[in-house]
Formats: sequence, structure tokens, C-alpha cells
Amino acid sequence: MKHYLQFNDLSADEYTYLFERAALIKKKFKAYEKHHPLVDRTLAMIFEKASTRTRVSFEAGMYQLGGSVVHLTTGDSQLGRAEPIEDSAKVISRMVDLVMIRTYEQSKIESFAANSRVPVINGLTNEYHPCQILADIFTFIEHRGSIAGKTVAWVGDGNNMANTWLQAAALLGFKVHVSTPRGYEVDEKLAGATAGSYQFFSDPLEACKGADLVTTDVWTSMGYEAENEARKKAFADWRVDAEMMAVARPDALFMHCLPAHRGEEVEADVIDGPQSVVWDEAENRMHAQKALMEYLLLGKVA
Ligand code: CP
Ligand code: NVA
Repeated sequence: MKHYLQFNDLSADEYTYLFERAALIKKKFKAYEKHHPLVDRTLAMIFEKASTRTRVSFEAGMYQLGGSVVHLTTGDSQLGRAEPIEDSAKVISRMVDLVMIRTYEQSKIESFAANSRVPVINGLTNEYHPCQILADIFTFIEHRGSIAGKTVAWVGDGNNMANTWLQAAALLGFKVHVSTPRGYEVDEKLAGATAGSYQFFSDPLEACKGADLVTTDVWTSMGYEAENEARKKAFADWRVDAEMMAVARPDALFMHCLPAHRGEEVEADVIDGPQSVVWDEAENRMHAQKALMEYLLLGKVA
């Protein structure tokens, strides 16, 4: 049994398979062709933080695969009344075939997985957001081909998205130029950063030079709201704008996992401009995760 708790839980070979499979699943979806490998299978989705894309993409995706879903939140389940995570995992995993969790500490999802009879998927933790990077790289491949050897510029917080980009770079052979304000750097250990795949820049403009993809995220992630005012000050120069896009490669793409705050981490003319692929990126969450759910339950089917 495989869990998907962080990006490096799968190998480069497995990603090659998943990206091809996601393309096929997407093609069938666009042609209104049925793809029902998960009939009678149930996905439990547990949300301890808010979500739009993760909820809709997993829920719609599971139905499209022929299965069904159960949606739980902290507020409407015993999770919010301090039932131990281990007990919750033992119970929930006896009734469903797959579990997706969005929560705070990575250690919580690890405890759940350690007590689960079925595969567990990370739908975002403070530390990682592997499903998003799965979709982002699938989106890059659709637009530009293989990401191996390419350069991604990360502008902003050293957060769950940044950590996951760095894990992916080490695994799939591309480079990440990271620029964060002082005090908001990535935790290199958590990110598994390796010398060849990671370079730090104190100036965000320098990080964008020659990049094939420029990407950013909110200044304040969920769970860090108390730091909002301090972060607004610290991040003022880490706003992706036309000048940053101009020093990247002429065919550079712009991505943002969304939700976005125009005028904070990105200017409207960038996110709504011709280099932005944010809507494809959001849609691809569903196609990529359908491939992932099929793989975790059935293994390679092609
Ligand atoms: N990108 C992303 O995970 O969006 P949601 O928070 O809306 O799920
Ligand atoms: N880094 C953001 C991503 C939201 C999808 C957060 O954790 O809130």
C-alpha cells in the first residue's frame, strides 16, 4: 500500500506514468467518454482548513471515476472534539478505500497514515502541497514539454508550496531559483534541497532571470493569519510584476496555486496576462488527482 504524503513518496518513473495517465484521463473527460475504474470505491475527504479547488477537484474527480465521496470537516465531526487522530484513522479507514486530508502539521497526516488500512493523500499541510505540484508540473509539460533541465523561479514565502517545488526539483531534475524575504526562507531539510536543484537569491528580480516558469503564492498561508500585518511589510518587494516577467525567458509561464491576491504577491497584469496559465493549472488538479487516485488503488493499469 502506498500513501502520498509528500512529493518524494513517488519515484521519477511513477511520475512519468502519472503525467501520461493524467493526459489520457483528461482527453477522455473532454470527449465525454466514461472512465469508471473506481466503481464502488469511496474517498473520505477530511478538511481542517478551508478549500475550493482541492474540495471540488477531488469530489468531482472521484465521481467521474465511478466512485463516491464522504466530506468531513473539523467542525462537523469528532475531529473537532479532540478524538485522537489515530482512532479516527482506524475507524474511517475501515469504511472507505482512500482518504484525502488537509490539515496543519505534517506529523498529523503521518499519524493518520500510520494507523490507516487504506492509502492516504496529502491535500495540503503546513509543510507540503504535493497534489498542487503534481498538477503544476503536468501543466508545465502540457505547455512546454519535459520540465527536466528547466528553471523555476519561486518568489515569496518559503512555505508548503516552496518546499514541495524543491522536493520535485531534486527528484525530476530541474532547478528552482528561490527568493524569499529574510526570516521567511525555506527549511532546506524539509524541502530536501540538493546543491544542483536549488539556488537562493536575496533579490527576486535576480531569481527570475532566465526562468522558464515564474511562480508565487500568498504572503500569508492558512494557519499563519496572526502574522498577516508583519508579512505585508516583509513581502512588499516580493510581488511578481511585469519587470520580473520581462527578465525571465520570453516564453516563460506564470503559475499560482490560487487563491491569489492581486496587488499583493502578484500584479493583475501578470496573473491575468498572456503568460499566465493559472486556469489550466487549477483545472489540472482534477485530472492529475484522478490519475493519482487510480494509481494508488489499482497500480499501473496501462
Ligand atoms: N490551490 C489550492 O489548494 O486551492 P484550495 O485552497 O482552494 O483548495
Ligand atoms: N500556501 C497556501 C496555499 C493555499 C492553497 C496555504 O497553505 O494557505
